[in-house]
Amino acid sequence: MAVLAHNCSNIRVTVVDINEKQISRWNDPDLSKLPVYEPGLAEIISKTRFKNLYFSSNVEQSIKEADIIFISVNTPTKMHGIGSGQASDLRWVESSARLVSKYARGYTIVVEKSTVPVRTGAKVEAILTSTSQNIDNETLHKSFDVLSNPEFLAEGTAIEDLQTPDRVLIGGKSEKAINALSEIYKNWVPEEKIIKTNLWSSELSKLSANAFLAQRVSSINAISGICEVTGADINEVANSIGKDNRIGTKFLRPGPGFGGSCFKKDILNLVYLCEHYGLYEIANYWKQVVEINNYQQERVFRIVVNKLFGTVANKKITILGFAFKANTNDTRESPSINICKKLIEEGAHLSINDPKVTKNKIINDLGIDPIEKNCTNYDQLLGSWSFEPDIYKALHSSDAVLILCDWEIYYELKWSDIIKGMRKPSWIFDTRNVVSSAAIEGLNINLWRLGQG
Ligand code: UDX
Repeated sequence: MAVLAHNCSNIRVTVVDINEKQISRWNDPDLSKLPVYEPGLAEIISKTRFKNLYFSSNVEQSIKEADIIFISVNTPTKMHGIGSGQASDLRWVESSARLVSKYARGYTIVVEKSTVPVRTGAKVEAILTSTSQNIDNETLHKSFDVLSNPEFLAEGTAIEDLQTPDRVLIGGKSEKAINALSEIYKNWVPEEKIIKTNLWSSELSKLSANAFLAQRVSSINAISGICEVTGADINEVANSIGKDNRIGTKFLRPGPGFGGSCFKKDILNLVYLCEHYGLYEIANYWKQVVEINNYQQERVFRIVVNKLFGTVANKKITILGFAFKANTNDTRESPSINICKKLIEEGAHLSINDPKVTKNKIINDLGIDPIEKNCTNYDQLLGSWSFEPDIYKALHSSDAVLILCDWEIYYELKWSDIIKGMRKPSWIFDTRNVVSSAAIEGLNINLWRLGQG
């Protein structure tokens, strides 16, 4: 919405949330306190906030005034009841639709921005129209059109992705509504990049795009395992196959597995959808993408333990990177969570570093309290972890370092200095191809790189 406001100075954008605390953080004069870290976002907000971009918790009033409403609530995987573990929890989409239905005035275009299962549009439409028919006279004049306009941005590059998208997808029945939304995007997106489809194609395209992307990561990660046992090099293989135009070079980087709020959730949702329609073979096909992703995390954990003589008990391991990827403070489904938990269970003492993830977030994700920084009495403890914002301190007296994110600063580490403070034999486990052989040449340090035979 910040990018939309930035490109359309004649449109007033109001972002509303029932969470007042969150809204006040978006209104904080100190832009470093915005709830989300995203390169370039603070700059855009500083240019648009209080001009044509507003953050408010007055949901009712904002709905009344709006011509177009984007429903952008989360749709996490259901953890209870029917479809538990796979289906999307649509309670917030539904409650938003009910609010819109109640408070909207006149003709309103309702846009599904949240990623939703195919045919959610029908449910939204049913809620909107049912309530509008049975309240007071004024509300009888309401009418709605529902559109699907999924978001394809990736975290860390969100502003760039929004500013120059590969495509903008608008699905719906009403040509008038589709054109109205398309006119807004045309302020900065070339017309040929705006794709118009029916509602169901648009909803399914979002799930399919994420499933394809996740499948590519699982595919390259599966090949990385073969490389390690055969002597092939995953980077050489990725480069060779990526040169085929039909395959392309992007999304072929091996790693500890995909994380983030979307891939796993959307694939599981697709699996649920397939099973609902009796398409069990197709469901199993997509399930395997998630299974390979779990396997990749388990594989990294086991390699670390095996290389450290089969035990990590009472060993200090430095974890570089806790976010699900670089350039974000988001840790949702981060492979680091599983890998760290397993290492702690095995008795390791982790010193965790990440440039943007806070200690509190890690406490929340691991569900274990950290030990005091100066604790030296490791023997008394089972596995443990501590948070260390200073990378060099984090690495001091470590037996091993496990790189799980490719933050820029990790490429610049001076291994010749670091090695002096590490316990011998010292190990670097690099899952993101951050450390080159040249960087450690002549140093007494063992390097294991994911996908390198
Ligand atoms: C993804 C989609 O890219 C985006 O279109 C959609 O709107 C939301 O989900 P995001 O989760 O922000 O975006 O990040 P993305 O860059 O796609 O990475 C997802 C995960 O895959 C990360 O854990 C990343 O490290 C991993 N990944 C990605 C790889 O391991 N290798 C790659 O080559 C690419």
